[in-house]
Amino acid sequence: MVVTIVGSQLGDEGKGGIVDRWSESADIVVRYQGGDNAGHTVVDGEDTYKLSLVPSGTVRGRVGVLGNGCVVNPETLLSELDALRERGLDPDLKVARRAHVIFPYHCALDGIEERAKEDKELDAGTTGRGIGPTYEDKAGRRGIRIGDLLDPEVLRGRLEYVVPQKRALAESVFGVETGESFDIDRLYEDYKQYGERLREEDMTVNAGAYLEREREAGGEILFEGAQGTVLDIDHGNYPFVTSSNPTAGGASVGSGLGPGVVGQGETIGVVKAYLSRVGTGPLPTELGGVEGQTPGYEASEGNADRDDTDDGEDAEREEALATEIREAGGEYGTVTGRPRRVGWLDLPMLRHAARASSFSGLAINHVDTLAALDSVRVCERYDLAGESLATIPARTERWSRCEPVYREFDGWPDADWERVVEEGYGALPENARAYLEYVSDEVKVPIAAVGVGPGREQTIVLDDPFEHSD
Ligand code: IMP
Repeated sequence: MVVTIVGSQLGDEGKGGIVDRWSESADIVVRYQGGDNAGHTVVDGEDTYKLSLVPSGTVRGRVGVLGNGCVVNPETLLSELDALRERGLDPDLKVARRAHVIFPYHCALDGIEERAKEDKELDAGTTGRGIGPTYEDKAGRRGIRIGDLLDPEVLRGRLEYVVPQKRALAESVFGVETGESFDIDRLYEDYKQYGERLREEDMTVNAGAYLEREREAGGEILFEGAQGTVLDIDHGNYPFVTSSNPTAGGASVGSGLGPGVVGQGETIGVVKAYLSRVGTGPLPTELGGVEGQTPGYEASEGNADRDDTDDGEDAEREEALATEIREAGGEYGTVTGRPRRVGWLDLPMLRHAARASSFSGLAINHVDTLAALDSVRVCERYDLAGESLATIPARTERWSRCEPVYREFDGWPDADWERVVEEGYGALPENARAYLEYVSDEVKVPIAAVGVGPGREQTIVLDDPFEHSD
């Protein structure tokens, strides 16, 4: 069986917990896109693991694979591995030789270009991990791959070609002085050593061939998507996106297993019961705002730019609600620590995600976070200058002008969530069930799991995808 876990919103939907839960039934957990921009939190009893690159399932002793669609910062990779080993784990991690390598000049250029874009409000609020510049080099056929680190001569040749271009770009186009991050000799020495360690630890693989072999031998495979659908470079709200494909198609291209293999399996869309976003870009259902991320927002003025909140009292109430949800849900970036923007659940976004990835099930998280609110809203559709839209428009500028049309639900009380998990779905507060079933009906995808806390045991499983036959 092959199961793909995809973020259906803007990342941080709680994919780590779901992957962790279902990796129990998997033999191999594969990341197929992104790099150390991701932040996956895995809670195991008293232990919390914050991972950015190593797949979450490795905490459970599963084989972890970083597929060819990933971009890999070897320094992060090796230090995460060392940190896990220090905590007594023995992660078995394999990296695709076809995956591209993030170099320090990519990280430097990430920051340089973000700053250059700020004036035009085109900056995406990136994590600064060099993700975009690395994928740019991949598409420009000047990237350096993990396999190239294994051969010092090839590595040297590639660096000699690409680094002077990067230096010229930083200095001549952006007018920024370059330092060690653009020094060929230094880069060569450091990355040759990373290559040696990858070789010594026998960590590199021809990922597609390896996965196919394991699958034929009966191995169960779990694909762990990072980020989310609205951050997808093709299906997200461009240009406020990451540079890879978190949607389910990416699982095929980014692993080397064909679309037939991925498509014959199950694809679970992970949904947060509300919304959060780190970084810039529109968010029609946003409550309040976060300075430096919400477009046009300044804390002292509230969110006066938005015409649905001219009334100061409403704006204050929204801010208070945003703070309550942010604190209850721990909505601070795992990688950057930035406060996340929060908003109500957005069905046009979920319909878009369900279509783009052919979801066969939904895992809806953070139902506990919304408990004790008097009422909970869901955006059913958008109103765009009198036009009713059931899904996200392709043009980001149009999306930014969409006004949410809400349906309001009575809130549900806080509960003894441990007991709820023990007793199962029927033990959820009635209003919470009404909310969840409404979402599932609207998106036309059944609920596979409901999350009521961050721990691996805090998920109510209605339908385990690994129990479906191939
Ligand atoms: P990048 O992936 O660092 O290039 O950032 C591009 C956009 O994706 C920014 O808005 C980031 O905040 C967002 N982003 C990247 N990774 C994550 C993630 O794991 N969770 C949430 N947002 C992310």
